[in-house]
Amino acid sequence: MNYTISVFGLGFVGLTTALAFAEKGNKVFGYDVNEQRVKTLKAGKLPFVEPGLDEALLKHQDKNFVITSAPEKAVIESDFIFLCVGTPGGEHGEADLKFLYSAIDLFSSVIDDGKFRTIVLKSTVPPSTTAERIIPYLEAKGLKPGSQFGVANNPEFLREGKCWDDMINADRIVCGTSDLRGEEMLRSLYSDFSSPFFAVSLNTGEFIKYLSNTLLATMISYSNEMSKIADAIGGIQIKEAFEVLHMDRRWGNATMSSYVYPGCGYGGYCLPKDTAAMVATSLSKGYEPQILEKVIAVNDSMPQYMAGKITKHAKKTDKIGILGLSFKPDSDDVRDSSSAKIIRILMREGYNNIVAYDPMANKPFSDEYEFNIEYASSKEELCIFSDVVVLVTAWKEFEDIRNYINEKPLIDCRYFTLNLEQE
Ligand SMILES: NC(=O)c1ccc[n+]([C@@H]2O[C@H](COP(=O)([O-])OP(=O)(O)OC[C@H]3O[C@@H](n4cnc5c(N)ncnc54)[C@H](O)[C@@H]3O)[C@@H](O)[C@H]2O)c1
Repeated sequence: MNYTISVFGLGFVGLTTALAFAEKGNKVFGYDVNEQRVKTLKAGKLPFVEPGLDEALLKHQDKNFVITSAPEKAVIESDFIFLCVGTPGGEHGEADLKFLYSAIDLFSSVIDDGKFRTIVLKSTVPPSTTAERIIPYLEAKGLKPGSQFGVANNPEFLREGKCWDDMINADRIVCGTSDLRGEEMLRSLYSDFSSPFFAVSLNTGEFIKYLSNTLLATMISYSNEMSKIADAIGGIQIKEAFEVLHMDRRWGNATMSSYVYPGCGYGGYCLPKDTAAMVATSLSKGYEPQILEKVIAVNDSMPQYMAGKITKHAKKTDKIGILGLSFKPDSDDVRDSSSAKIIRILMREGYNNIVAYDPMANKPFSDEYEFNIEYASSKEELCIFSDVVVLVTAWKEFEDIRNYINEKPLIDCRYFTLNLEQE
């Protein structure tokens, strides 16, 4: 069965969700408050780099996928309302729900018209949020979740850089539901996808997402802690040690093993805020998490740790070349990137002569951060101009960087380059 769907928020998750449902034959309206983003999308371009999503946009734009500036009208026609807006970290680590509330405010006045719809939270929200924050928010408006409309959550597990494939070929679809009718609608909507479908309680749906992200964060901080111990002991080939660890057949060559590898800390939009939100939620419910607080502490220590390695090799007048600005390779997302944290520390300590290069993210980085630094147009150029080279993001093209730096010091924050001699 084909449905009409409104999607609020057209970022990585919302745009991918909207186009995936369009691909399956549904009629999808997309709405975003960011005018610049809407303008870019309407011109048939992506506001970020995402392989496959660009083609899907061109294929469905103004056919099954329509960008609307009239969200109420779209909702009136819709069977589903998917909320895919951001849920940034609040002051004390908690998930800030202001964009979810503002999205709900846009359509709440039109959903008591007798038509049964299902509101689906795809944004990442900590366990108990749908039941204890969102449903009461709707009830406070005089609405009756469960009888007038369904409320569910449907956490998203896609990886940036692989958004389209992860959505179309999802390895699991999880829906936390509060009413049978909404559950049946979601089951029917997702029957067009060949992924296992799990309908669980509202809190379980949310919990499963945090189970995933906090485990990834823990594996990264574990690896970083081990790399610090190895540095302290000395004489340990860290890259080789982790590569041998991955040969254990219990990993089964799983890509998951790439998270059990040291670097300069996790960044990006999700792991930092989601781990902090899990701690904040747990504290608010009366349990102080022992491991997760340390996972965050180890992660927070990594930029300073790496900056220390850099300043050991650089004079304040030296030009420091930073390779990689996105939070991970194959992405131009610079949110919470390690490079920004390391550059900030270096500049605070008086190392102001910095040049940076990223294969995709020079512009997004200079737009996002107001650092007074130079940008190189290639790794070759960066290496020529730098006295000390620092590899921060493990782009494939940096693997052979040692061939470009001659005798200059290289600080490989990702234990990534070939023929490594650790600093
Ligand atoms: N990026 C990821 O890899 C990823 C993966 C899984 C889950 N998530 C979660 O999905 C959610 C969205 O993440 P994202 O990366 O797509 O964020 P994003 O910042 O790229 O996109 C969010 C969009 O929502 C829009 N928005 C804000 N308020 C709005 C409103 N009232 N109405 C309509 N649009 C509004 C913003 O303008 C923005 O374009 C977050 O909760 C995130 O944690 C993200």
